[in-house]
Amino acid sequence: MAESSPRRTKFILDEEQIPRAWYNIAADLPVRPEPVLHPGTGLPIGPDDLAPLFPMALIAQVVSTDRDIEIPDPVRDAYRLYRPSPLYRAHRLEQALDTPAHIYYKYEGVSPSGSHKPNTALAQAFYNKAEGVTRLATETGAGQWGSALAFAGAAFGLEVKVFMVRASYDQKPYRRMLMETYGAEVVASPSLSTEYGRRVLNATPDSTGSLGIAISEAIEDTVSHPGTKYSLGSVFDFVLLHQTVIGQETILQMEMAGEEPDVIIGCAGGGSNFAGLTFPWLGRSFRDGARYRVIAVEPEAAPSLTRGVYTYDFGDTAQMTPLVKMHTLGHDFIPDPIHAGGLRYHGMAPLVSLLKEHGYIEARSVHQRASFEAGVRFARSEGILPAPEPTHAIHVAIDEALDAKASGRPKVILFNLCGHGHFDLSAYERYLSGQLEDYEYPVEKVEAALAALPKM
Ligand SMILES: Cc1ncc(COP(=O)(O)O)c(C=O)c1O
Repeated sequence: MAESSPRRTKFILDEEQIPRAWYNIAADLPVRPEPVLHPGTGLPIGPDDLAPLFPMALIAQVVSTDRDIEIPDPVRDAYRLYRPSPLYRAHRLEQALDTPAHIYYKYEGVSPSGSHKPNTALAQAFYNKAEGVTRLATETGAGQWGSALAFAGAAFGLEVKVFMVRASYDQKPYRRMLMETYGAEVVASPSLSTEYGRRVLNATPDSTGSLGIAISEAIEDTVSHPGTKYSLGSVFDFVLLHQTVIGQETILQMEMAGEEPDVIIGCAGGGSNFAGLTFPWLGRSFRDGARYRVIAVEPEAAPSLTRGVYTYDFGDTAQMTPLVKMHTLGHDFIPDPIHAGGLRYHGMAPLVSLLKEHGYIEARSVHQRASFEAGVRFARSEGILPAPEPTHAIHVAIDEALDAKASGRPKVILFNLCGHGHFDLSAYERYLSGQLEDYEYPVEKVEAALAALPKM
């Protein structure tokens, strides 16, 4: 392990080094992805089945096996507002932990809306606009995705309607205000503005909502409004693709640091920031045999990768999406209202699930108090307040660094600090005042949801 220049803390690239293409892992996968199926026929879906929801350019990206997919100039130009994002060496955290490990983090919180989400929001807004769409409908969990799409809608001149999961809508009013400032319309989900939302509210008037329900509402809104398409912030292959700018930049930045990571870590809700950081590195290992341990970290309250079943399931609660093969806790499963709202999802991206199933990546789950403890420790050493989601990755990065200390074997750790937590201070307050609760893994709820999996 080479020592980088003394105390060099930030590794900064020039705007010209913003990647010119997204990296498509389909070109290098050692195992074949499973087809996406039509829920009615059980047969693989074609572009026409997806056309009511997405513009053709995005559908073409899903079926492409080209390794490099060119980033259109207007998207790359918008990326200049915040890309390349910095890579940091966490000297102060290393000192606080007294570890021989070298810890690096990629900081995506520098984007205008505060997370990695604009990497795909800008791309999706661009392609929709180019194909004559005037309005986008979407869901948001933590509010980070909704803010990113609201920003992208403003950047490319599209109306945006956001269904915000009720639990987050109540916990994070400032996220709603940010979305409205960008010009989006925001409603709490379940809402009265869709047939499905009204049905859920009739059955459970105090529902805290879930990403699965909000997705169903956004899709219903899409198909019932002319000129509208659906936009999503995770799970789907093209979303993961757009996030690969993160990992590609870190490859250049780790070269600047003169080091190679041994362990690469990302939190995983639907899998997009995790994939964005790790796929370009995994592509290297598939092509050249380089070896990295790659770890996805999820919440104990919604542990799809560590405790779910690898099978075909719906992406949403109302069963409107196509069927995808993924690790799932069942589309009916509604996770407890943890503060990492972006990780409250019953499933996982099919590409991430495939890699886990075949042993190319590891997965771990963490309780929310332990993850906030790691977030506070990080903030006190590095100064940046992490969003609740990446505190899960920080927790495992710290574990790995302490393991290096215990074994006396140095290692290089790289993780994705995929967003800041400036709108999550009420959650930190609850943690600091001892009021934050852990939710045990809900065995019975998951069993009931798994019993409702589609019969294939
Ligand atoms: C900051 C942050 N991190 C992570 C996630 C989880 O999404 P993904 O697993 O797709 O990165 C979200 C989702 O809203 C988020 O806002």
